[in-house]
Amino acid sequence: MRTTILTVQKMKRRGERIPMVTAYDYTSAQIADRAGVPMLLVGDTLGMVVLGHPTTLPVTLDEMLHHIRAVVRGSQKALVIGDMPFLTYTTVEQAIHNAGRIIQEAGAQAVKLEGGASVLPIVQRLVELGIPVMGHLGFTPQSVHQMGTRVQGKRANGARQIIEDALALQQAGAFSLVLELVPAELAREITERLRIPTIGIGAGSWCDGQVQVWHDMMGLYTDFLPKHARRYASIAETMGAALQDYIADVRGGTFPTSEHSSSMDPQELQAALRQLGRQDSTDLDGV
Ligand code: KIV
Repeated sequence: MRTTILTVQKMKRRGERIPMVTAYDYTSAQIADRAGVPMLLVGDTLGMVVLGHPTTLPVTLDEMLHHIRAVVRGSQKALVIGDMPFLTYTTVEQAIHNAGRIIQEAGAQAVKLEGGASVLPIVQRLVELGIPVMGHLGFTPQSVHQMGTRVQGKRANGARQIIEDALALQQAGAFSLVLELVPAELAREITERLRIPTIGIGAGSWCDGQVQVWHDMMGLYTDFLPKHARRYASIAETMGAALQDYIADVRGGTFPTSEHSSSMDPQELQAALRQLGRQDSTDLDGV
């Protein structure tokens, strides 16, 4: 039985902190699910950490569907949330069609979309149709060309706007809200005002939960480490060392051994060679 949106809302009421991680494939979803992570976000960050784009903007819905399917196959207990990529929810109709594909074709149990006032009618309609929606405020990466990559809501006007948007998203039916790159004090204020859980990334420790990007926390993506990330493992280093061992083994002829190979009855091989010999002489007869 998977975690549901009701379970995560109950976690907030009980004061239980909610850990969420991103996942993009079957194997990592399996690892996170078995470790007991209750929510897996198939974020459009996959455009950067998996596909190597400089931003999340080039990610397409088809790419998201491909990765969400894999994460759903790899997990049994976690609530899987699929990100709606850039320009896939510009109207209510378009959002219904695309969120529907994320739920119906890819098997996610919820979608996430970025923005405040402008997405309220979309959130409301999706929720009416039975599609759980997670909001995303503060730094919203799909608007990187407008806002740059910086902390949002440091000044009074910006902070007020984020609080109003958070309350409006809750009112529209969002089941939870990601707060990215906002001051810790502002995230605390929002968390205390909302009934729905806030999930922070670069938003301090007062949020109801936290989300980390898989490749950052595992030390897989080494181009840079964002200030808000903590590296819990150094997998790129481990993989690099493993590859050095592999290269040395192949070059030195110590891999594979008989353990990794299969063998055949020598008489069968001799028979095959005799058959080949006959074939060769027949071929020559025809020349
Ligand atoms: O796309 C993503 O992975 C996200 C998280 C960083 C919250 O939106």
